[in-house]
Amino acid sequence: MGRPAVAIHWSHSTVTRRLRWRALGVHGATVWLTGISGSGKSSIAKHMESDLVNSGIPAYVLDGDNLRHGVNGDLGFSRKDRGENARRAAEIAKLLADAGLVVVVALISPYAEDRAQARRLHEEVELPFVEVHVSAPQAVCEARDPKGLYAQARAGTIGEFTTVSDPYEVPARPDLVVGTDEGTVEDAAHAVLDGLRARLEQGAPPSA
Ligand code: ADX
Repeated sequence: MGRPAVAIHWSHSTVTRRLRWRALGVHGATVWLTGISGSGKSSIAKHMESDLVNSGIPAYVLDGDNLRHGVNGDLGFSRKDRGENARRAAEIAKLLADAGLVVVVALISPYAEDRAQARRLHEEVELPFVEVHVSAPQAVCEARDPKGLYAQARAGTIGEFTTVSDPYEVPARPDLVVGTDEGTVEDAAHAVLDGLRARLEQGAPPSA
């Protein structure tokens, strides 16, 4: 996606982020869960959302499968489409985090470049961004096969399937790695929430 046309200008809010967050008693951030199919991203994301909301912290999950039913419904799984899928998810997360939500993105997002772009989009506007690699061995994820997709990919009825016929670039320097081959979803969700808290405690207060 290129830059917007020169005739389109940014409309600045009269409410600053600091004022909005203080008035609402919130602190926005994006937690980006990346990992292969069946690694447990969606389960962890849902658990985190439930924990946060039950503690009075507004949170919202952006799940790859769900986004592909709506805003990303026109996209497939080519390199280009996966890039666009991640870009749109990152832009939506950025808006929701700016509004004050803790956004939990659960997207395979197999390419390092796309994840780096998502981070950049947030860091440019000083929003916290935490990249989490949800990690489980390929064989474990394939044995779980919750949607039966690995079986279809192996049979050749689904193409461009991550780790079968398409790559997954393991994050080189994620903020956090959570393994899901041992331990419960709750443990993994709590580990991510602890990581998020630590990040927010060391981070600067919202600018302006
Ligand atoms: S991403 O690679 O573009 O980030 P995303 O997280 O949005 O993927 O969607 C992945 C989901 O789409 C998987 O959980 C799976 O249910 C489904 N899916 C269907 N076809 C594929 C495919 N070729 N590769 C990976 N996931 C697929």
